[in-house]
Amino acid sequence: MNNQKELIIDKIEKNFSYPLKQGNLKVLEDVSLYMEVGEIIALLGPSGCGKSTLLNIVAGFEKPDKGQVVFMGKTVIAPSPERAVVFQSATLFPWLTAKQNIAYGLKLHKQKQEVIKEKCKKYIELVGLQGFENYYPAQLSGGMQQRVALARVLVLEPRMLLMDEPFAALDAQTRIKMQQLLLSISAQIKPTILFVTHDVEEALILADKVYVMSKLPGRIIRQVEVPFKRPRSISIIGTNGFSKTKREILQLLFE
Ligand SMILES: Nc1ncnc2c1ncn2[C@@H]1O[C@H](COP(=O)(O)OP(=O)(O)O)[C@@H](O)[C@H]1O
Ligand SMILES: [Mg+2]
Repeated sequence: MNNQKELIIDKIEKNFSYPLKQGNLKVLEDVSLYMEVGEIIALLGPSGCGKSTLLNIVAGFEKPDKGQVVFMGKTVIAPSPERAVVFQSATLFPWLTAKQNIAYGLKLHKQKQEVIKEKCKKYIELVGLQGFENYYPAQLSGGMQQRVALARVLVLEPRMLLMDEPFAALDAQTRIKMQQLLLSISAQIKPTILFVTHDVEEALILADKVYVMSKLPGRIIRQVEVPFKRPRSISIIGTNGFSKTKREILQLLFE
């Protein structure tokens, strides 16, 4: 086992059993991949292929039946603030303002007042929430809520972000803005990012490598190197390389 890797997913198998039914459902079969520090990997696959299950295992919310996840040289057995999770819905505290939501985790960790103030300012700027600090979640659009959700985990300065279709519920224009924001965040603070999506374009815009998954039981059927350097912008959409890679991946998904 190579402990230099930031994250190793090693031959994971996961089954769900149903108490009222015979047998069980094999959701993941022999899934392996590894990640370098600062790398962005997209897990791409059809709905229901086990992407969230795999992300939950990496987060430490679920246990695999076979195999293991190794993060920074240690087997994952529980969730850790080093591996922060961002979900499709923002799940903010409705009774707290944007800024209070962002400060919440730091307060929980008993950080000093001036540290909280300084970090909140930094991450509010990083996600572009200046001017919206005192709004409550219900007063914010879906995209702005997702910015708060991002800042709320970034402020804890995790090594790794686990993102489960975080932009899937947003309208097309907001989604592109958020993808651009994530590219700029990754250029500035370089967290290692495991990004789950069912959207081929999103995977190509964001990731260094795309791992394409099969239908159930989810297996990795192909690893695609994305042929675009960083820093990157959404202007890659529609270029020849982009369309060609997109076509190849779509073919795999529909085979
Ligand atoms: N806790 C669970 N108990 C039983 N079945 C589950 C559970 N979580 C997910 N599943 C099943 O596992 C399969 C994969 O689900 P999921 O990982 O959510 O897929 P994806 O995120 O790719 O859409 C689905 O058939 C789903 O119904
Ligand atoms: Mg899912």
